[in-house]
Amino acid sequence: MDAPPATTRIADPAITSPPRRRRAHRRTTFVLVHAGLLAVAVFAMASHEMGATVHSLAGLALVGAIAWHVRSQRGWVTSAARRRLAHPERTLVVYNVVLMGTFATVTLSGFPVWIGDDRGAMLRVHDVSSLAFVSMVFGHLVLNRHRLAARLRRRGRSASGQP
Ligand code: HEM
Ligand code: HEM
Repeated sequence: MDAPPATTRIADPAITSPPRRRRAHRRTTFVLVHAGLLAVAVFAMASHEMGATVHSLAGLALVGAIAWHVRSQRGWVTSAARRRLAHPERTLVVYNVVLMGTFATVTLSGFPVWIGDDRGAMLRVHDVSSLAFVSMVFGHLVLNRHRLAARLRRRGRSASGQP
């Protein structure tokens, strides 16, 4: 008997995996990705005891992780940019803009401290904004608690509309 055509022999997970397993896989990915993001944020804060280079590289790794995170939420970000204060999740819109601004302040003030060894005003700005940022990340998780709970129950869709 002839072998089936190559296209039907390649297992397509979208067709072959049972939906329950696929949803469990998505949930595990969601948990791992967000736990990783949180861990990078906590490490970026804690690493300031490890010297300027290690800490600055950890800070830059966080910049990359957050850029990826915000990109993965681009459906929500686009609708927020379009509707602004008319968005049904107005609190989240305002909160996320302030969170982003705080993070930009931490990152931008980090460079003069790192490269210019500015231990005066810039270090103070960096210090205060970094504390505000880390506290605000926990607020961000609290504001997202329903979304998080739905994702952990495997029924929710992401803010970007992705399952
Ligand atoms: C969200 C990410 C970050 C957090 C939470 C954070 C937090 C902190 C904290 C709490 C300090 C100690 C301030 C003090 O000694 O009073 C510090 C120091 C410092 N940060 Fe950051 N930082 C972050 C990102 C960055 C980035 C992106 C850079 C570089 C581009 C950077 C460069 C530095 C430098 C050079 C110091 C001085 C370290 C030393 O004591 O020699 N940080 N940071
Ligand atoms: C500058 C920092 C950050 C920005 C600008 C940002 C932005 C966003 C945006 C725009 C959304 C979609 C709207 C919403 O639900 O609020 C979102 C969702 C979310 N963010 Fe962040 N975020 C940041 C940091 C973090 C960090 C450090 C974590 C830690 C795990 C995190 C966890 C989450 C979670 C769990 C969701 C819901 C995801 C989903 O339902 O798919 N975010 N974030």
